[in-house]
Amino acid sequence: NVGSKLSITVVGASGDLAKKKIFPALFALYYEDCLPEDFIVFGFARTKMTDEELRNMISRTLTCRIDKRANCEDKMDQFLKRCFYHSGLYNSEENFAELDIKLKEKEAGRKSNRLFYLSIPPNIFVDVVRCASLRASSENGWTRVIVEKPFGRNSESSAELTRCLKQYLAEDQIFRIDHYLGKELVENLSVLRFSNLVFEPVWSRNYIRNVQLIFSEDFGTEGRGGYFDKYGIIRDIMQNHLLQILALFAMETPVSLDAEDIRNEKVKVLRSMRPLQLEDVVVGQYKGHSKGGKSFPAYIDDPTVPNDSLTPTFAAAALFIDNARWDGVPFLMKAGKALHTKRAEIRVQFRHVPGNLYKRNFGTDLDKATNELVLRVQPDEAIYLKINNKVPGLGMRLDRSNLNLLYSARYPREIPDAYERLLLDAIEGERRLFIRSDELDAAWSLFTPLLNELEQKKIVPELYPYGSRGPVGPHYLAAKHNVRWGDLGDEDS
Ligand code: BG6
Repeated sequence: NVGSKLSITVVGASGDLAKKKIFPALFALYYEDCLPEDFIVFGFARTKMTDEELRNMISRTLTCRIDKRANCEDKMDQFLKRCFYHSGLYNSEENFAELDIKLKEKEAGRKSNRLFYLSIPPNIFVDVVRCASLRASSENGWTRVIVEKPFGRNSESSAELTRCLKQYLAEDQIFRIDHYLGKELVENLSVLRFSNLVFEPVWSRNYIRNVQLIFSEDFGTEGRGGYFDKYGIIRDIMQNHLLQILALFAMETPVSLDAEDIRNEKVKVLRSMRPLQLEDVVVGQYKGHSKGGKSFPAYIDDPTVPNDSLTPTFAAAALFIDNARWDGVPFLMKAGKALHTKRAEIRVQFRHVPGNLYKRNFGTDLDKATNELVLRVQPDEAIYLKINNKVPGLGMRLDRSNLNLLYSARYPREIPDAYERLLLDAIEGERRLFIRSDELDAAWSLFTPLLNELEQKKIVPELYPYGSRGPVGPHYLAAKHNVRWGDLGDEDS
């Protein structure tokens, strides 16, 4: 790409995601000198705006890395000078042809690559892809399109979306984002497993009792109830973010770090999984709650949500991988909005030590003595391993201690946002962290029968108060599979 021009068009430039994530990530990349020397950014949306107005809008959300304040203002000015705007309709080929003229003006006959970031609702994906590919593709370089979920609501609609996109784009032009794959700790999962002798040999049913993938947010769906109600937490978090982590966690060793080799392994493990069963799933929805003189709304208080909505804002599920490595090991997922804390983590609970010499030091509750490896994806990124340790002193008392790798202490540098890594990868044509269409199909096959059943049987979610730990159902579900949720021990925090 050296010597060629790069044009990045953010379609849906005035939307929330663009303002909060995409423009700041582009600036951060520029700030770190990661973008090609010759790049421009175009905002495209329906709103009428001048270049100057776009720059003002963007400038409010740009921030600098804490460790390099010095030339930040200058860099911001230089970045903003490379930002332009074109207003148009999402389904107008003519408006995209106008954009093409503007892009060509800036490209001035040079070899140029074009990246389109679709930060728009799913119902207009195909229109935009049609118009952009027919009228605003690069004539002498590559054209790539980044799309964000939702990729359909089930297997059928997702396949239909893929079919429509492929009328205009080749698979290698489509970059399907799952921003959890861009998170530092998720990327590190493979490094931890495959570059440390101590982990890979125990990474199987022989040593691991269960794996837990936990996502919780301490705020509700206020402001985006309209979107959320059509999808629910299972489609919003589980079918993509948590399942992607699970696939990386459980896949076999890939032949190489090449994108296709990794994605082949992910597809294989997804295809070895059993589709989710209704009896292994619990759903919940948050209700209003008052705490400390403050009141928090119920999910259905949102004016864009129907009063009788059964959409889950919380779900827990047990999943199983029917292959030689994982046969019988429960993978438990839990995801919820409006809970007591904001956290995402992977917890690996190991088996008991056979014939443990120190059994009597643990009393009757041997569960408390098992090792647990925790990867805290956010906040306060950390990896820690719970071990049994002798309390110093003359007696023989054991307690549980953590071997603790806290990122803020070990790596004081700010961790880049997931969108920075993913945008950079898309620019460099690195597909490792993007979802291939067969992966997406495999992911939907696991969830579609369950999602249909929940809807057809009108399963009523268990209510839980806003700001609580969620409904009680997940405890029964875990107990059924002989599991105890690991995130309840406050000693971790
Ligand atoms: C998005 C979901 O994909 O991820 C949101 O649609 C959720 O509902 C968000 O809030 C969480 O992302 P992060 O990076 O803030 O954990």
